[in-house]
Amino acid sequence: MDTSIAFHHLESPFPEGFLWGGAIAGNQCEGAWREGGKGPTVADVSRYKPGIDPRDYSAQHGITSEEIAQAMQTDDELMYPKRHGIDFYHRYREDIALFAEMGFKCLRVSIQWARIFPMGDEEEPNEAGLSFYENVFRTMREHGIEPLVTLHHYEMPLYLSNHYQGWYDRCLVDLFARFARVCFERYKGLVKYWITFNEIDSIFRHPYVTAGIVPDRFADANLEEVIYQAVHHQFVAAALATKELHEIDPDALMGCMITRTLTYPENCNPKNMLLSQRSNRENYFYSDVQVRGAYPAFIFDYWDKHGIDVRFEQGDEEILRCYPADFVSFSYYMSLVDSVDADDREKVCGNLATGVKNPYLDVSEWGWQIDPDGLRYALVDMYDRYQKPLFIVENGLGARDVVNHDGSIDDDYRIDYFRRHIRAIAEAIDDGVEVMGYTSWGCIDVVSTSTNQMSKRYGFIYVDLDDDGKGTYDRTRKKSFYWYRKVIETNGASLFSEDGGDER
Ligand code: BG6
Repeated sequence: MDTSIAFHHLESPFPEGFLWGGAIAGNQCEGAWREGGKGPTVADVSRYKPGIDPRDYSAQHGITSEEIAQAMQTDDELMYPKRHGIDFYHRYREDIALFAEMGFKCLRVSIQWARIFPMGDEEEPNEAGLSFYENVFRTMREHGIEPLVTLHHYEMPLYLSNHYQGWYDRCLVDLFARFARVCFERYKGLVKYWITFNEIDSIFRHPYVTAGIVPDRFADANLEEVIYQAVHHQFVAAALATKELHEIDPDALMGCMITRTLTYPENCNPKNMLLSQRSNRENYFYSDVQVRGAYPAFIFDYWDKHGIDVRFEQGDEEILRCYPADFVSFSYYMSLVDSVDADDREKVCGNLATGVKNPYLDVSEWGWQIDPDGLRYALVDMYDRYQKPLFIVENGLGARDVVNHDGSIDDDYRIDYFRRHIRAIAEAIDDGVEVMGYTSWGCIDVVSTSTNQMSKRYGFIYVDLDDDGKGTYDRTRKKSFYWYRKVIETNGASLFSEDGGDER
C-alpha cells in the first residue's frame, strides 16, 4: 500500500483560467457609511473595544439593544471603525489598479444591501448605490478582473434588524429576493460569479452580525429555535435568488458559502471519532441543504428531540429542491480538535470557535491554528461529498506588520502561510479535486470583523491606519505583494521552483 501523501510534481497543477485573486467585504473596506444615500447597517454599530483580549469573542461580539441605540445616537467613526473602513468607496480605482498590478484574475467584493435599499424594505432602489457598484465592476473589467460578488456579508440594513427582528421574520425572504433581482438585472453581463450568504453557518456564533438577531429581544423564546427559523429563511431566500439569477442571466453561476471548520478527533479513540464526525456534520448541514436541496434527516430528528419547531411554508421544500447552488465556496483559516477529555486539555479559541489544542500545529497571535494540510483534507472531503466545483473564497493570516525605516514591510510569515496553503490546494488538485479559484482574505488590509482592529492585517497591501483610526490611509506594497504576483504570473509554478517565488 502506498502510504506516501507527498506531492511529487515539479510543475504547477493549476488549470488554465484558474481564478487567482483576493477578497474583501463592503462593510470592512468602503467606509462612507452615510454617503450616496446608504442606510446604516449592523456593521455600523459594531464597536471597537480596546483592552479586551482579542481572543475573547463573546466580549467582542455580544450586542444588546441598548448598545445599538447608543451607537445610533453618535456619528463617531473612531469607536465604530467599519464606518470609515479603508475608504475604498473613494479609492477603489487606486486599489483595483494595485490588484491588477498583482495580476488578479478575480476580486471578491460584496454589495452592501443598504446602499441599494437603505432601509431594506423600500419599493425602489437607490440609484447612487447601484451606480457606485456598477463603476466598481466596470473598473475591475477594464483591468481584466472578474468580479465575484457576495450579496450578504455581515452588513444587512440595520432597519431590518430593528423593525423586523432580522432574518427571523419571513418578510426578509421577499425583501432579499427583490434586492437580489435588482442586482442581477443591473449587473447582468458584468458579474458572472455570485455568492448569496457569506459564512451562512456563522449564525450560531454571532446571530446579530449574520442575521440581525439581537438575543435580548428574544428573552422569552427558545433562541436556538429562533436561529434555526432564521437560517431556514436564508436557505429559502438563497434558493429564490438562484432561481432569479438563472432566469435573468443564464450564464451566471451562484455559489453557497460556509466557514469550513474542519474538526479532527484527538486520537483514534472511537468516541473521539464520533465526536468529530458530529462536529463536521453540523458544519456541513448548511452546504448540504444548499447543494443537495434538502435538509439532512438528522436535523429533523434533532429538532424533534429538543422540541424545536421551525415553520416551513407551503412550497419551501420544493424551492430548496429546485434551485440548489451551482458551486460550493468556503473560507478556510484553521482546524479544530474534538476530544471526550476536552475538560482536561489545553484549549485554543479562534474565529469564534473553541477546541482542544492540536500539538502538531502553530497558532496565530489571535489563536487560530495554522493547518495547511487541513485545507487539502477539506478540499478532498468536500469534493467527495458534493462532486461540485469548489472555490476557496477566504484564507489568510491575521498578523501585526512592522513598517521598516524605509517604509517597506517584510511579511515573510504571511508568505510562508500562503505558500503552504496554496501548495495544499495544488496537492488537492493533484488528488482529483476540481477547484475554480482562490481569493485570499483581506488582500488589502481592512477592518477586522471580529475585533474591529486594523492591526490584525491580512493584506498584500498595507493601509496606513491604526486601531484608533489614525493614519494617512496611504497604500504600500508589502513583500508578499511581489511574491503573490509571481505566483499568479506563473499560474502557481513559482511555488515549486527553488526560490519559492518570493523574489521582488
Ligand atoms: C471571515 C469573514 O469569517 O473571516 C470575514 O467572512 C473576516 O469578514 C474574516 O474578516 C477574518 O476574520 P477577522 O475577525 O480576523 O476579521
